[in-house]
Amino acid sequence: MNVLEISHLIKTYGKGDNLVKAVDDVSLSVPEGQFVAIVGASGSGKSTLLHMIGGVDNPTKGDIVIDGENISKYNSDKLAVFRREKVGIIYQFYNLIPVLNVSENITLPCDLGNKKIDEEYLKDLIETLGLSGRVKNLPNQLSGGQQQRVAIGRALFNHPKIILADEPTGNLDKKSSDEIVNLLKTANQKYHQTVILVTHDANIAAQADRIITFEDGKIISDKLQREAISPAPTPKAQPTEAEEIAELEEIEREVEAENESSNAA
Ligand SMILES: Nc1ncnc2c1ncn2[C@@H]1O[C@H](COP(=O)(O)OP(=O)(O)O)[C@@H](O)[C@H]1O
Ligand SMILES: [Mg+2]
Repeated sequence: MNVLEISHLIKTYGKGDNLVKAVDDVSLSVPEGQFVAIVGASGSGKSTLLHMIGGVDNPTKGDIVIDGENISKYNSDKLAVFRREKVGIIYQFYNLIPVLNVSENITLPCDLGNKKIDEEYLKDLIETLGLSGRVKNLPNQLSGGQQQRVAIGRALFNHPKIILADEPTGNLDKKSSDEIVNLLKTANQKYHQTVILVTHDANIAAQADRIITFEDGKIISDKLQREAISPAPTPKAQPTEAEEIAELEEIEREVEAENESSNAA
């Protein structure tokens, strides 16, 4: 099943001589569980596309259907609810709330939606992110890589349909950048989490299932490198707590192993 269907999407800014076609008639579908990289020169429309998928901005024309829901004509109130429940967005500059600690930043979307916090999941997620000793720290007491891990936690906490990441490693050193990419890959492989990642880095893009290249608001190339890791899961009963813990422990071990191997490299 396609979790995302975009058809004839257009976004223009300005008027007359100043008209800019930031996204120019883009059609695209993404099956559930795919890890997509979007690349292209600066100004080619990557962020504009991501903002529209994430419900941060409205299209000028065209349709965006996410999880069967056509969001293209939603007003700002409906978009706010959609953003909170269906997507997780990660930016280059973290966008954490400075007065909230690590744990509070991660649970923010749940708190805003008045949903009960799954404490067990929160604890395990924080461990997976390597932030266990940092739960009470404020963002300005963390390194850039740690802040970005908090942002990933916040994006994942609501079990979104799609994770959207706009150059999430653009401000980080190589080691932190590897950690962030590994976490996104882990989320993709273990939770079957659909990920759309904008990146300038060819090595990062090469790790995706699919690479889409943008130029002047249009898709100029769309290459499938491999099928998504596992088939879309059929809806099943919620896992038991023990199963969830076992799974998170497994993820933790993998992230640690990957971090160790990238440290060694
Ligand atoms: N809010 C805006 N107002 C006017 N022009 C914009 C705005 N946002 C983006 N643009 C223009 O749209 C084009 C695509 O921008 P963007 O999506 O940010 O590209 P990318 O993320 O690929 O660097 C650029 O020409 C940019 O200047
Ligand atoms: Mg951009």
